[in-house]
Amino acid sequence: MLQGPRVRLRSIARDDLPRLCEFNNDLAVELAGGGDPPFPQSLARLQAEFDQDAAKGGRDGTKFAIEADGKCIGSCGSFNTNAAAQTCELGIGIGDKEYWSRGYGRESIRLLLAYAFKHLNYRKVWLRVNAANERAIRAYRACGLAEEGRQRAHVWSDGAYDDLVLMGILREEWREKP
Ligand SMILES: CC(C)(COP(=O)(O)OP(=O)(O)OC[C@H]1O[C@@H](n2cnc3c(N)ncnc32)[C@H](O)[C@@H]1OP(=O)(O)O)[C@@H](O)C(=O)NCCC(=O)NCCS
Repeated sequence: MLQGPRVRLRSIARDDLPRLCEFNNDLAVELAGGGDPPFPQSLARLQAEFDQDAAKGGRDGTKFAIEADGKCIGSCGSFNTNAAAQTCELGIGIGDKEYWSRGYGRESIRLLLAYAFKHLNYRKVWLRVNAANERAIRAYRACGLAEEGRQRAHVWSDGAYDDLVLMGILREEWREKP
């Protein structure tokens, strides 16, 4: 649905679930992703969740599969929307480590920002990221997001406390073509 030079953001298909399940069970990917501590996930549970959601009909919402070279390399989307403040939170996880640090994340984030500002008319997009995740922070900065603050020693990740960094971009700061 959203096409960049190398990346396509499209709806998640049932066929993507084995790949996504593999990513969800990869400790390095889970730790980089932040949020909840890593828990294993069976394909059956992931499929059950997908089927339950699909049975509702309607549209998929704002979660996308990230496709590159014809395969699903991860997922991304926006959530935690606030209609009054016109804000949403962005989340991304490239689970195929072969695709880390090659600009695929940056391209996906740019597509998501364009979607959020141009199509969904948000005023601000923000996110949270563990301070140790320098790769992610560099990619977010390259897309125009700035650090807005940090919660000190706020997360427990990989056996240590880490700061939680808050980053954001306002619509007037956003440039579609950087
Ligand atoms: C975070 C993520 C989306 C970034 O996408 P990506 O395609 O890997 O990143 P990009 O190639 O666009 O940019 C990576 C930047 O980090 C740098 N980098 C790569 N590895 C690094 C490392 N170990 N330490 C510091 N910087 C690093 C790269 O040089 C590049 O910066 P530069 O262009 O300024 O030189 C992707 O790596 C990912 O999904 N990782 C796993 C899950 C995750 O971390 N999700 C984010 C949770 S907030």
